[in-house]
Amino acid sequence: MNIVTNDLCVRWLIRLVKKKRSPDDTHTASAKARTDDERMTIKITDQDFPPLQEYIQQQCGIVLRDTQQYLLESRLQHLLSMHQCGTFGEFLRLVKEKNSPVLREKIVNAMTTNETFWFRDSHPWQNFAAHLLPQWEKELQNSLHKKRIWSAAASMGHEAYSMAMLIDDFCGSRHKCAMKNSVEILGTDISTSALYVAISGNYDEMAMSRGFTPPFDGYRRTCFKQTGKVWEISSHIKKMVVFKQFNLQNSFITLDKFDLICLRNVIIYFSDEFKRALFKKIAQTLNPGGYLLLGASETPIRYTRRFRSVKLGDSVYYQLKE
Ligand SMILES: C[S@@+](CC[C@H](N)C(=O)[O-])C[C@H]1O[C@@H](n2cnc3c(N)ncnc32)[C@H](O)[C@@H]1O
Repeated sequence: MNIVTNDLCVRWLIRLVKKKRSPDDTHTASAKARTDDERMTIKITDQDFPPLQEYIQQQCGIVLRDTQQYLLESRLQHLLSMHQCGTFGEFLRLVKEKNSPVLREKIVNAMTTNETFWFRDSHPWQNFAAHLLPQWEKELQNSLHKKRIWSAAASMGHEAYSMAMLIDDFCGSRHKCAMKNSVEILGTDISTSALYVAISGNYDEMAMSRGFTPPFDGYRRTCFKQTGKVWEISSHIKKMVVFKQFNLQNSFITLDKFDLICLRNVIIYFSDEFKRALFKKIAQTLNPGGYLLLGASETPIRYTRRFRSVKLGDSVYYQLKE
């Protein structure tokens, strides 16, 4: 990975998001819900819904079901007011006419669901530390290659930082500092407002109240610095992760290969066709024997035969077939 390029990319992203954030932009799920309730006024007609459904799917792959008109109504309401549009049809016409990347980004930020928390589902991460890290430790002794991890729908960074905390702990407890420098973590997401939080590494009390259950509870104290109501991730953890914006609809060619790809709690939003294409690209982007980790309710089985399910402890990981 070209660290310099990525560093520039991260700095660019921070500037971009800071510049584009307006009081109407929100970057937490709770804030999004609040604005949803407060501004619910304009209803979407049956005529205006299908073209907007199609537009959202084109931009980010998210499929809105026919019963999800309320999602567009609540999440795009503030953009309609901001652009003085009286109907959703008028808004879509404006979006297409303006063809503005900034407006497109605001729509995507509003329509993505960034729900996430630390060490989500617990057992995949216990088994990552108990099984995968010792395996990698052995493999790294006979190899010059680094191990590369991709948190492919990283949201606000919890998943990528959770892995960084585990790696840091694993290396610290074994005095294996060399291994820490041999693992790279990339976190990507389509949402710039979610990435803004990830890159800042600052979390509020609500975010810090979710996921630090045993055996992970100690990391709240050892890996964060609390100043008032803000918890900042420690610099030694922060520097283990590089974040950048990436749309999973794009080609993966620029990303290089990975040994573990986490694609958790995101494919549920996509069409079968998109899932099939996505699993194909993931298989091409994993090193031989590399692993794919999905969310608890997700499986690649209907979409590809390139993976075998393997148990790491009591967690199911999907390993690329030879
Ligand atoms: C529910 S969150 C899951 C976060 C994390 N993986 C977890 O399991 O806690 C889904 C994330 O997928 C991102 N997402 C949705 N569509 C995407 C796309 N086409 N490309 C990249 N990220 C996308 C959203 O912005 C959101 O942050």
